[in-house]
Amino acid sequence: MTGPELAEAGRLLAAARRPVVFTGAGMSAESGVPTFRDAQTGLWQRYDPQELATPAAFRADPALVWGWYEARRRGVRRALPNPGHRAVAAIQARLPATVVITQNVDDLHERGGVPAPVRLHGSLFAPRCSACARPAPLPSDLPPPAGTPVPGAPEARDEAEPPGGPVSHAPEPQDGPLTPPACAGCGAPVRPGVVWFGEALPSAALDAAVEAAAGCDLLLTVGTSALVHPAAEIPVVAARLGAPVVQVNPVPTPLDAICAVNLRGPAGEVLPALVRAAWPDADAG
Ligand code: APR
Repeated sequence: MTGPELAEAGRLLAAARRPVVFTGAGMSAESGVPTFRDAQTGLWQRYDPQELATPAAFRADPALVWGWYEARRRGVRRALPNPGHRAVAAIQARLPATVVITQNVDDLHERGGVPAPVRLHGSLFAPRCSACARPAPLPSDLPPPAGTPVPGAPEARDEAEPPGGPVSHAPEPQDGPLTPPACAGCGAPVRPGVVWFGEALPSAALDAAVEAAAGCDLLLTVGTSALVHPAAEIPVVAARLGAPVVQVNPVPTPLDAICAVNLRGPAGEVLPALVRAAWPDADAG
C-alpha cells in the first residue's frame, strides 16, 4: 500500500505520543481465524450466535456451547500471529504509552508481542466456573503451547502465503459437543471466559479503554465492523475529544465519517506499511 492516505496516516502516527490501537476480528483474519460477520466465512454466517454465544444457550446445552468454544480455541492454537499483529507490537515498542484495546478473544496479540492488551470481550484462554466464577484450568487435551511447531500448520505470511490464502482455523463439523469440566470448587459447569451477547463487559477493562481513548492523541481502529456496542463507541470517544482516528479495513464501516484517514486494505499488509511510513528506519515486526 502507498499513496497520500498512507503518508498522512504515517505522519499522524509519527506525531503521536499516546496512541490507542483498537482491534476487531479482521486483525486475525490473515492468521486463518474467521471473523464474525464477513459474508460466507464469518462465524455468524455459519452458526447462530443466539444458539452458541448467550448465557441462555449455555444453560440450554452446555456441551454444544463448550464444544464449539473448544473447537475455536484449538483453531486459535494452530494459528500464528500475522505481520499486522507484529506491527502493532512495533508501534508499542516505539511508543511505550500505546494502549492496545481488543474485542478479540484469541491470544494472537500476546503471541505477536503485545503482552497485555485491554480485553473487552474476554479470552478463550480464561475459563471459569459458570456459578462461582472460580478460574478453571485449561483442558489438558489441547495441542502443545504457543510457538511449538505444529506439523502442517502454515506460517502466517512469514513465509510465502499458502496458495489460496491463509488456512482457515474455523471450527469443523467433527468438532462436536463436549461436556464442560466441573468446577473444582462448587462442581458447576465451567464456561468459556468470553463475554456473551447480553452480558456486561468487564468493568475494569471498559473503564481502562474509555480512559485511554479519552486521553489518546491518535486512535487506530483495525478490522472491526463497529456494530457491537459498547465496544464500538471507543473510537467515537477519541474522535469526540479531538484525537484523529485512522481506520484500517478493506471495506467501509459506520466509523468512516469520523476518521481522518481510511486505509482500505488487509491489516497484515497495511499495518507494516503504516509503521514504515511513520518511521522509515523501523523494523515493522
Ligand atoms: N484486515 C482488516 N480488516 C478485515 C480483514 C483484514 N484482513 N478481514 C476482514 N476485515 C474486516 C471486515 O471488513 C469487518 O469490517 O473486519 C471486520 C470484522 O467484523 P466482525 O466480523 O463484525 O468482527 P468485530 O467487529 O470484531 O465484531 C465485534 O462481535 O460477534 C461479536 O464478540 C464478538 O468481538 C466480536 C464483536
